[in-house]
Amino acid sequence: MSWLLDPDAVAAEYESELALRERVLAHRELVEGPDDETVVRTRIVAARPRRLLEVGSGLADLCAWAKAALGTEVVAADSSPRMVELASTAGVSAILADVRKLPFSDDWFDCVVATFVLYHVEDPATAIAELARVLHPRGSLLASTVSEDSSTRRQAWADLFDEQPQPAPPQLSFSRENGRDLLLRHFSDVEQIDCDAELVFPNRERLVRYVDAVPRMKGLGRRVPALKAPFRLPEKTTVFAASFPR
Ligand SMILES: C[S@@+](CC[C@H](N)C(=O)[O-])C[C@H]1O[C@@H](n2cnc3c(N)ncnc32)[C@H](O)[C@@H]1O
Repeated sequence: MSWLLDPDAVAAEYESELALRERVLAHRELVEGPDDETVVRTRIVAARPRRLLEVGSGLADLCAWAKAALGTEVVAADSSPRMVELASTAGVSAILADVRKLPFSDDWFDCVVATFVLYHVEDPATAIAELARVLHPRGSLLASTVSEDSSTRRQAWADLFDEQPQPAPPQLSFSRENGRDLLLRHFSDVEQIDCDAELVFPNRERLVRYVDAVPRMKGLGRRVPALKAPFRLPEKTTVFAASFPR
């Protein structure tokens, strides 16, 4: 089983925000190509929601931005006590909750954001039903994930470490490949925005920090060789914009 679906491993990973922050900042500062975070923010601006829920809010950057930039009423929900604490500190309403059982009334929000969280549940269909339930009939869900196809990424790591590519990881519960079908069970319309990009690491020091922040690579940073050129790491992410919950 993938660590992504192991509740104890997930709780341990998100006990602290430090590794997540390193990964999020690397993405924000080093991405070249279409950027899923920009897609999500642009969609939120266009939707101008009055009440926004972010589930799996992590660092709560998006919640803080939505509240400040749009004056939106924002609620953050996360299963990690530390992430809930971060959202509270950022000045938004924050609640410890599981995406499969949300403590909100039906139809309450007009926008729900769930980025890189649905792959943490074995039964994403239950979670999606719950997200549709709390959404207003004219509301929309923005859900990001990654592609099942990690071959170019595994090859890039193999080239860096001068070894054979690692085997493909276990299948994701919610991915670029199955997300649309899962969402169509609870939403009438699903748009898929694929973002194939690269993280470009300018120097070894930045790459070492990133490697040590990747869950399955912790401790490998010291093995990163000197770089002759910037290191390019492929990323295949997808944003699903689902509307008309049913
Ligand atoms: C990969 S991080 C993504 C954080 C943020 N959405 C982002 O895009 O940067 C996953 C987040 O989901 C939370 N999480 C994991 N499983 C969850 C669940 N079943 N219900 C609610 N939150 C969960 C974790 O604690 C963590 O904060």
